[in-house]
Amino acid sequence: MKVDGKDMRPIWFDSISKTVKVIDQRMLPHKLVVAELKTVDDVIDAIKKMFVRGAPLIGATGAFGVYNALVDLQQKQKCLSQHKKNSDACSEKISDAALSDKDRADKKACDDYLKQECQRIKDARPTAVNLAWGVNRVLDVALRYEQYDKKLMAVLEEACQIVEEEAENCRLIGEHGCHLIEDISRKKGGAPVNILTHCNAGWLATVEYGTATAPMYTAFDRGIDIHVWVDETRPLNQGARLTAWELGKHGIKHTVITDNAGGHLMQHGMVDIVIVGTDRTTRTGDVANKIGTYLKALAANDNSVPFYVALPSSTFDWSLKDGVKDIPIEERGPDEIRYVQGIDDQGNLISVLVPPQQSHAANHAFDVTPSRLVTGFITERGICEASEKAIISLFPEHV
Ligand code: MRU
Repeated sequence: MKVDGKDMRPIWFDSISKTVKVIDQRMLPHKLVVAELKTVDDVIDAIKKMFVRGAPLIGATGAFGVYNALVDLQQKQKCLSQHKKNSDACSEKISDAALSDKDRADKKACDDYLKQECQRIKDARPTAVNLAWGVNRVLDVALRYEQYDKKLMAVLEEACQIVEEEAENCRLIGEHGCHLIEDISRKKGGAPVNILTHCNAGWLATVEYGTATAPMYTAFDRGIDIHVWVDETRPLNQGARLTAWELGKHGIKHTVITDNAGGHLMQHGMVDIVIVGTDRTTRTGDVANKIGTYLKALAANDNSVPFYVALPSSTFDWSLKDGVKDIPIEERGPDEIRYVQGIDDQGNLISVLVPPQQSHAANHAFDVTPSRLVTGFITERGICEASEKAIISLFPEHV
């Protein structure tokens, strides 16, 4: 997407430095800082500390993490295939704790190392299923190759392919979701369509367009009058900091509201549709998303406001049926609740303490909205109801 006239994505592979680059989202909207992820530890750190966040972006970052694992391996001289006659991937100088036994200096050792590093990456955050999806997809490719250079090239190609596919999936979500906004606009005789969204399910959380925001961009670009209510989304304010920044850069009218305002706005007919993203959705249609999404869904249901969830297929967890019972909910550190970050009058980024120093804080980062509260899903293959039957009819390969 464009930032001040320049094309930007939140993640890219820099072919000159041969490293992964990301926008450090912790600094937005006040500073646009780019970080370089050179190692697996950098990738894990970036995911845990939320330089990168949002389910599809975490998936893409994890995918590049597999590339970094191979680079780490080479740099530690654990994988020098040239000295072995059949030039298999991993042949010598296995010297550290992870691969200390020289007898294991073969392809298996290399693959075991990769699997172990991939597990570390997958453990960085628990809720977004895209992370494991992205890592596993690239790992599967890595395991097919024996020769190190071929492995490295194939892994990089696959990670880049994931990035391109996710961008295209979000473009398609925009196409499909735009029809919903168009219908409402027509019914309102062209008056502004008021859309409420929670957290940041925009391009910063994906690669391009976003999931929940993709239909907004498409509608806006087609000249439909829209206005977006942006939930601030405590504790880290992804709505106030990131969604507001993205929409503003694109010229879309928006208003930041407190997390508790949505119900009131819905009662007074000021919300036409809710569109949110998701971090993991079961095959039955239960949706895990940023904490507070469930309350928005309850309020929408009580006020007959359509509640849509936009997602690429990488966010479905085809193995789960009961979201409340089975989706792992991340609990993050209490300081994200206790402190609020912003800039002071001199433009310095500062953190300030809100509650009494001694008060405990609990930071449940996600909640689950049961499928009965979801009007429908907007996916790259079209829109469907929130039921297993309807989801599987769009994705029959997961029957
Ligand atoms: O904790 P975060 O910022 O990673 O949470 C992100 C969300 O909850 C998004 O709504 C979700 O990932 C959908 S992203 C398109």
